[in-house]
Amino acid sequence: MILRERIAAEITAQGGWISFARYMELALHEPGLGYYAGNARQFGAEGDFVTAPELGSLFGRTLARQLRELPAKRILELGAGSGALAETLLKEGDFDYAILETSSALRERQRAQLGDKVRFLDRLPQRFDGVILANEVADAIPVHLVAWRAAGIMERGVASKGSSFTWKDKAATGGLQEEANKIAVPAPYESEIGLAARAWMRTLCEHLERGVIFVIDYGFPRHEYYHPQRAAGTLMCHYRHQSHADPFLHPGEEDISAHVDFSALAEAARSAGAEVLGYATQAQFLVNCGITDVLAEANAENALHYAPIAAQAQTLLSPAEMGELFKVLAVGRGVQTPLLGFSRGDKSHAL
Ligand SMILES: C[S@@+](CC[C@H](N)C(=O)[O-])C[C@H]1O[C@@H](n2cnc3c(N)ncnc32)[C@H](O)[C@@H]1O
Repeated sequence: MILRERIAAEITAQGGWISFARYMELALHEPGLGYYAGNARQFGAEGDFVTAPELGSLFGRTLARQLRELPAKRILELGAGSGALAETLLKEGDFDYAILETSSALRERQRAQLGDKVRFLDRLPQRFDGVILANEVADAIPVHLVAWRAAGIMERGVASKGSSFTWKDKAATGGLQEEANKIAVPAPYESEIGLAARAWMRTLCEHLERGVIFVIDYGFPRHEYYHPQRAAGTLMCHYRHQSHADPFLHPGEEDISAHVDFSALAEAARSAGAEVLGYATQAQFLVNCGITDVLAEANAENALHYAPIAAQAQTLLSPAEMGELFKVLAVGRGVQTPLLGFSRGDKSHAL
């Protein structure tokens, strides 16, 4: 069965409507058919997008400086993609490394890449003491779509028409309506609410006995997320390095993601008894961790060797690329050591 038919069948079974969150879950994660679940060719130059660990080892080597300062040497990486970050970190420190990956296709790719240097988990450990890493995972967690209109708050959902899909809105209810009511935006306005991402963060914190969770992703604190000028939301699709805003175009063959509301994740962590240990732009975090020292280790005399590393630094740090849009949020419990990545800089990026 192809994914379009699978989604259309569910829409029919549900009486002609499914929430956008359910559509996104099927499009990305349906076993065997979803974008992440069905293939492993998303990453790199031939794929649909390039993540920080995929650029090269500079990101991982810099992050390792933060991780080596923490007492626990146990790392759990969520959604490890091609395995590039794990590969770098394992060269940089003597870590006990586990991966929790929802896509079986990607798990196989990671296993082929990393062999027995990592353990693969099927679920979160009941109690975890160590560091949890999630780079560009939170943006792939299905979001609910909401439209604030003069007539009231609507939940955007999906209906089918032949072999294609169309938008169909209905009045928002329950927890979604409650959350939408708390957000003051000028109608008409459309955006996302990441109910599942909040639940994900709460669950991670509940399982964290001691340690730190680093969430690294593109996104904003709430006051920037629901800015009056961002009236069409942040939903984005990536297909072969092109981005567009129509999630019905290539279900299962393209990435669908939303920016992360970091204030919501911080609140979710606090509600589960964890504390916010730091929040900064990726550029500030990497500079604090000593990215310039890592760069200085490269031989600047040899332009062929140096140029690709300098290009990685440019992409990771430049405000026009990943430096400002990407943020690092650290939450945790029982951690006495101040975190290196948040030691200096503008603290006005309030959540
Ligand atoms: C955009 S990729 C990022 C991959 C990698 N972290 C990197 O930076 O290159 C998203 C990854 O998260 C995985 N994923 C999505 N939702 C997940 C979840 N709830 N738990 C664990 N992995 C998840 C996907 O299968 C994929 O490996």
